[in-house]
Amino acid sequence: MWAIIGTWRMSYEAIQNVSKKLKNNEIGADEAAVLAIAEIEDFPYFKSVGYGGLPNEEMVVELDAAFMNGNDYSFGAVMAIKDYKNPIKVAYELSKQYTNCVLVGEGAEKFAHKNGFERKNMLSDRAIIHYKKRVKEMETELKPYIGHDTVGMCVLDNNQKIVSATSTSGLFMKKSGRVGDSAIIGSGFYADSEVGACTATGLGEDLMKGCISYEVVSLMRQGKTVQESCEIALNKLNDKLLEKAKKVGDLSIVAIDKNGNFGCATNIDNFSFVYASDKEEAKVYLVEKENNKTTFKLASQEWLDDYLKTRMAKLEL
Ligand code: GLY
Repeated sequence: MWAIIGTWRMSYEAIQNVSKKLKNNEIGADEAAVLAIAEIEDFPYFKSVGYGGLPNEEMVVELDAAFMNGNDYSFGAVMAIKDYKNPIKVAYELSKQYTNCVLVGEGAEKFAHKNGFERKNMLSDRAIIHYKKRVKEMETELKPYIGHDTVGMCVLDNNQKIVSATSTSGLFMKKSGRVGDSAIIGSGFYADSEVGACTATGLGEDLMKGCISYEVVSLMRQGKTVQESCEIALNKLNDKLLEKAKKVGDLSIVAIDKNGNFGCATNIDNFSFVYASDKEEAKVYLVEKENNKTTFKLASQEWLDDYLKTRMAKLEL
């Protein structure tokens, strides 16, 4: 039995590719998560992950990534790393260390250099155009742009191992050094092979307030289904923030349980995710919120065709 879930439509091709290998037992959960996320990091048209990710307010691309092994809870994370091609690979390498497994900025870059990870200027020409357009739109003050799509994956393999992993460029126009939920254990990701795993996307500052990925796995541990756990955790955080802070950012999560069942929840209208398992090939689902209840349906072919066209459309200043 195996299963894999990833946030957003951008996970589709990568999940299709690693599914074949998971199915044939060519790779386990670790490699599936790292390979899939690295493929997304390498694709220049996704503007919130890896190469082509949108820069901070100084026009520098700072990336966060993390990996967690649900068998022994080991994890690794890099935050605000610059000029390395695949932050997820660096995070995975760090997860093999008991101490010093979370590194930021220059320290993360030194580790990546020492361990022979590939360097790359991660600022694409497209990202520069997006940046300059944004600067033009914001004549008076540079403010972070709240729309962004982190890739998060949860994988169960044929050996009942569960892992969770993330990669993101975080908020467009963020402050230098700003870190969101994606590299913070329990917030952007969590995995326990005896229970399940969860990963989040949305406004890191708000997702961290609910330690939402840990919360979802805890609810599953207490006996809730994976779908119930997602909805309870997300609605609770959404409602608490509205009550206490009078505002809430975008919050979306996906999860799997130890039997490969999936769950999802969101407080926005355009969330999507991709799921594949030994029982079904990779499919894209569109998620909606109605009266605090999450509904999801398969994306139509038209929607799928339109997605890449929009992402790859010519950009002009
Ligand atoms: N969820 C990604 C971030 O806030 O950085």
